[in-house]
Amino acid sequence: MTQSMNPEELNSIAKMIAKAESVVAITGAGVSAESGVPTFRDAQEGLWAKYDPMELATPGAFARDPELVTRWYDERRCRLQSCEPNPGHLALVKLAERVRERGGRFTLITQNVDRLHQAAGSDDVIELHGSIWDWRCTSCGMVQEERGGPFSEFPPRCDSCGAARRPGVVWFGESLSEDAMDRADEAVSVCDLFLSIGTSAVVHPAAGFAYSARMNGARVVEINLEPTPLSGLVDVSVQAPSGEALPRILDLALAIS
Ligand code: OAD
Repeated sequence: MTQSMNPEELNSIAKMIAKAESVVAITGAGVSAESGVPTFRDAQEGLWAKYDPMELATPGAFARDPELVTRWYDERRCRLQSCEPNPGHLALVKLAERVRERGGRFTLITQNVDRLHQAAGSDDVIELHGSIWDWRCTSCGMVQEERGGPFSEFPPRCDSCGAARRPGVVWFGESLSEDAMDRADEAVSVCDLFLSIGTSAVVHPAAGFAYSARMNGARVVEINLEPTPLSGLVDVSVQAPSGEALPRILDLALAIS
């Protein structure tokens, strides 16, 4: 067990979950890290430590060099094919089941585009930043889910109209889906427990949900490997890998309720 996983802290989180009527969990790249998926801002191997997001994750970058951008996203997509959900993803499925069994509400919001939550069994996931598996035509808007090998041309072409296709993810400077935001806002507005897991809590609007939840009187918990701007404001902050902390919290929560 990671030395920073203080049993009292884990126990207090488990008690909060056991009592909560409406839980919201938001996840970031840290939850997929133990599945072998690179995060964005980890100092060494984070994606943004190696690449300039403005060169790869903006509409302008795609307009300037659609081949470079779609090659990069397709490389990430193909690497993801060998990644499996980790114990953290699986624990979130069971925690949601437990809360719902006793009539509570559990909403999972993710910033991740890898769909590992769904692969683990989470349903009704609010995908704030879209999915790297969905590729959308820039002309007719047709979306095709791509689970096969690498594309044969870059940018890939639409099967229907032949125009260039782009990854179905949100780029910097783009607005998030209204439906996703409305669903997330509604869940955050009524939750009494908010869990921020595996995110640096710096990208808005996702990073703002914890503050809104707190203002609405919810308890706020953070599980993250390193401190974030949120750490000083939450009720409990656990600095540990989510793939270790979440299963332990699940076991404690199951023993309580
Ligand atoms: P970041 O890479 O910014 O933050 C990941 C966080 O997870 C860091 O604070 C790490 O310390 C932590 N972490 C790493 N391994 C962990 C583990 N095993 N368990 C728990 N925590 C761990 O990724 P996000 O916060 O998800 O936006 O980034 C938010 C958004 O910025 C992404 O969705 C993406 C990016 O640009 C878009 O694509 C629009």
